[in-house]
Amino acid sequence: MTHRKLPDTGRAEAEVLDELRGFARADPDYKSGRIWSLVYHLDDAHDDFAAAAYRQYSSANGLNPAAFQSLKRMESQIVSMVAGLLHGGPDTCGVVTAGGTESCLLAVKTYRDMARKTRRVTRPNMVIPETAHVAWFKAAEYFGVRARLLPVNGELATDISKLGRRMDGNTVMVLGSAPEYPHGTIDPIAEMGAIAQQKAIPLHVDACVGGFILPFMEMNGIDLPDWDFRVPGVSSMSADLHKYGYAAKGASTILYRDLDTLKHQMFVYQDWPGGVFASPALLGTRPGGAYAAAWAVMQKLGVAGYRDLAARTARAVEALKAGIEEIDGLRLLGHPQGPLLAYGSSDPAVSIYAVADQLEQNGWSVNRVQNPDGIHAMVTAKHAEVTDAYLADLASAVTTVRANPDLARTGHAAAYGMMAHVPLRGMVKARVLDTFAEMYRAGGGSLDLDEAGHKAPLLERWMAKYVAWRARRS
Ligand SMILES: Cc1ncc(COP(=O)(O)O)c(C=O)c1O
Repeated sequence: MTHRKLPDTGRAEAEVLDELRGFARADPDYKSGRIWSLVYHLDDAHDDFAAAAYRQYSSANGLNPAAFQSLKRMESQIVSMVAGLLHGGPDTCGVVTAGGTESCLLAVKTYRDMARKTRRVTRPNMVIPETAHVAWFKAAEYFGVRARLLPVNGELATDISKLGRRMDGNTVMVLGSAPEYPHGTIDPIAEMGAIAQQKAIPLHVDACVGGFILPFMEMNGIDLPDWDFRVPGVSSMSADLHKYGYAAKGASTILYRDLDTLKHQMFVYQDWPGGVFASPALLGTRPGGAYAAAWAVMQKLGVAGYRDLAARTARAVEALKAGIEEIDGLRLLGHPQGPLLAYGSSDPAVSIYAVADQLEQNGWSVNRVQNPDGIHAMVTAKHAEVTDAYLADLASAVTTVRANPDLARTGHAAAYGMMAHVPLRGMVKARVLDTFAEMYRAGGGSLDLDEAGHKAPLLERWMAKYVAWRARRS
């Protein structure tokens, strides 16, 4: 079904749209809040509104900001609204990007180039917490900036006691997250800012997750440590519109305290036969629809709307935290302060990955984390409607897993456990790469659907084979 030729003649629009709807058959059921990552969905009416705004500008291109002045105006207004939320100063400036990863990549490129130009740094490194989002590791690889890691302490919080010593003359930036993805902890930004400032190294705060919810949690009276431009050492921040901004996919922001720094993000090539070229971000063509949708959603929700969403999310998070702590055999990982959390097992008889399998059998879509093993939840306002059902299924999953020790040694639980714990990390990387690449083999590769319409990607089949191979060897 994946091999396909362009139809010889065009098809009826209704028929095409119908087939598209059919493609979603095996997708996660996000509309009822049964997926705990990837999607930030309020309701169909909200999606329709964002789509209507998107449609108005779906052909518009932000490549050249001087061409579509409409888009430049939206971009400037989005940046200044975000700067206001993040306590930026009068010179805070920035760019709308296509997503959190683009924003993170850009920060690394900016600071690498700034250090190259102003300090002649040719072997750049950056100091980042080991819990930094994987986008930062991607940036390190793409841009040739060595990542020096700050470990976590016993509480799974970033240990900054060695931050000063990790920095040297080749350090181009330091990173803190608000919050980090794996456990939802806000890094000690004020302390990191003081150390970075003393060494005159820029500190970027990755608030891709927190940027559109922490400000409103604070307005609702929740006490948080300073995490944004209020900290003098913070020189830039990223905040995603397509996460807790509830915008359509494809919109994030990167903000700098001053234009001199932002200039290092920009690309200019004056000798191109296609004309003198200047671009503020990674992409060439930039999707006008995503800007329009983000701008429109911000106008529609306003401070009151976001505060309400933040309050509903915080209630769901608190209910989940309390419920998880009450289930014998589970424990929260670290001390989540924002909208997401992760939990693991506190009982050797309860394999958390087996619990994840049980949840999935009950129709929940969950992410697994590792080091330590756990289940992740990116909580949205929508989840307030399903928290009780989730906790009930979680409690019964734990009971089932405790009563059936074999569940930890079979299926996904065994495979994920193996992937997390095999000491040969290079081998895991190589096999994941092979398997992942298979999905991109000509014709769509291995992303087959079984008869029930469930995905059966090769990765899972490979993991099953690997488990069987290990079992034979031991
Ligand atoms: C802290 C953090 N930074 C960056 C990103 C990357 O965002 P995106 O998936 O939009 O590229 C994420 C995604 O979850 C994140 O949690």
